[in-house]
Amino acid sequence: MTEDLKTSIRGEILQVKDLPTLPHVLEKVTKLIENPDTSSEAIAKVISTDQVLSAKVLKMVNSPIYGFPGRISSIQHALVLLGFNVIRGIIISTSVFDMMVQAMKGLWEHSLGCATACNIIARRAGFEDPEEYAVAGLLHDLGKVVTAAQLPELHKQITDNVEAKQLSYYQSEKDILGFGHDRINAWLGKHWGLPPNIREAMSRHHAPQLAEFYKPMSCVVHVADFLVRLFEFGNSGDDQTAYLRPEALIELNFKMTDLDKVMDEMAEQLLEVSDLTF
Ligand SMILES: [Fe+2]
Ligand SMILES: [Fe+2]
Repeated sequence: MTEDLKTSIRGEILQVKDLPTLPHVLEKVTKLIENPDTSSEAIAKVISTDQVLSAKVLKMVNSPIYGFPGRISSIQHALVLLGFNVIRGIIISTSVFDMMVQAMKGLWEHSLGCATACNIIARRAGFEDPEEYAVAGLLHDLGKVVTAAQLPELHKQITDNVEAKQLSYYQSEKDILGFGHDRINAWLGKHWGLPPNIREAMSRHHAPQLAEFYKPMSCVVHVADFLVRLFEFGNSGDDQTAYLRPEALIELNFKMTDLDKVMDEMAEQLLEVSDLTF
């Protein structure tokens, strides 16, 4: 592929600035938290003015993915337990839900499965705030939605190429676009004001060894992505055998027996999250 073509495709993707529209309250809350003295009560009040959104957030935070199933009764309670970064990620994911379901069959389930696995892995590795890992997992393949929803012709070329050459979706994106959804994620994450740890995990989940600042989170998402594909839970765009970077297991200090334990827990929880829709 010529450099010219690569640059023009990149431009096309980066032009999709309004994708997807996020709820108005998110903007208001973002302004509010610029003041570090803002209370969680004040933030909760703003979010609660959007009742549809609040109901979606409560449904999501009460799923087994975040470790408090059925125990979170209000937005304020959710903010205190999970923090605003997690709530912001959840609002983004529920806002793209319709688009994701229409654009790529199985990608929502793949994302839910990855979030579930991230939470299990982060807990097992002893990391603090496993909910933030879960949100990184929930958002890790969002870049695929941009191409699929906004550039359907290029998306068709990518999927045709997957079939014809038996490639991974990621490799096919690189063939057709000149780069993968990990690069699109980096741009999206910035555009949406996600925190740097979640942004880096989203943009490094295929090459966690290259993560600069938040290697553990990038490694957790990488391993979770691998495991959820192994389970064949949902679909992330191809049915090639996934690869697992040994560096990721070393970073987490995981042995094969740890992976077995994680998979046992996944088997239980995936059943419970499989019907989580909005
Ligand atoms: Fe990916
Ligand atoms: Fe994935």
